[in-house]
Amino acid sequence: MNILRSGYIRKFASLVVLTTIALTTGCGKQSSGLVLRMAHTLDTSHPVHAAMEHMAAHLTKASAGQMELKIYPGSQLGSERETIELLQLGAIDLVKTSTSPLEGFIPGMGVFGIPYVFRSEEHFWNVLNGDIGKRLMQLGMDKKLRGLCYYDAGSRSFYTKEKPIQSPADLKGLKIRVQNSQTSIRMIEAMGGSATPIAFGELYTALDQGVVDGAENNPPSLLTSRHYEVCKYYSLDEHTMVPDIVLIGTETWDRLTEEQRGWLQDAADSSVTFQRNLWKQKTQETMDKLKEGGVEIIRPDKKPFQDAVKELHDSFKGTEAGKWMKAVLEQY
Ligand code: GCU
Repeated sequence: MNILRSGYIRKFASLVVLTTIALTTGCGKQSSGLVLRMAHTLDTSHPVHAAMEHMAAHLTKASAGQMELKIYPGSQLGSERETIELLQLGAIDLVKTSTSPLEGFIPGMGVFGIPYVFRSEEHFWNVLNGDIGKRLMQLGMDKKLRGLCYYDAGSRSFYTKEKPIQSPADLKGLKIRVQNSQTSIRMIEAMGGSATPIAFGELYTALDQGVVDGAENNPPSLLTSRHYEVCKYYSLDEHTMVPDIVLIGTETWDRLTEEQRGWLQDAADSSVTFQRNLWKQKTQETMDKLKEGGVEIIRPDKKPFQDAVKELHDSFKGTEAGKWMKAVLEQY
């Protein structure tokens, strides 16, 4: 009940924030075009934020100023789950989220949280750009969530405070932060750790204060969130490849003209190409910065991690995520 109440309070708070932003913008420079509001949790130094800025610039240019994308980064409007709910309510227009918390709304999205379902980056992108990725993107239409594009979010690996993770045995007794996703919780438990869901925006403090002993994420997120200031061990077991996705609320989409939809989709597509290049470019630089920041990079043998989740894979048989897992495993 308390959790429910605090959820509503936060949602209410976000609406107040939006109203405040609207009033403030009203007092300043006014846009003559249609302004779409987009929320996400990442820092503005993150390559995925740069992609959204690219999308915004492309949209303004393509529409000759008739459409504008206003981005609210850094969890300003709430956690990913909360902003997805705001999207459903029509309080904001777009959200960039990881697909992990989406599984609470669209069970099929849980497939990305199942560890070691992708054999390689090539396999991952064949899935996303092919029939599976396209169908998954549209699965949320009856929940008022329409997918526009996926962004590269690399692979997720463990980072810890006190000791490096060399094998699943090292996770025993450790509290590991996970995203708001049942699949992530089950993965950590299968590997022997104890899973604690915490919103990304609250994680720095949770790590710092010892609420959790570690977390897992891709290199740019470890760097730009500054979690590396607290966690000095990064173990590249690369358990999952969980993409980011841009969603638009169907109420907003339905209000757009065909021309406006075209501008927006083109801007999203252009930002995907931009983002994938930027991600590749930044990979080495990110690892170098982490090392400079005192992070020890560990490259553990992945086999024990893969073995630890074999039963977990079997347990998905017959579920919605399991249905997509089968399709993914059969895809080249
Ligand atoms: C990634 C992802 C974010 C997400 C974060 C998390 O960084 O890009 O969208 O919030 O993981 O672990 O919560």
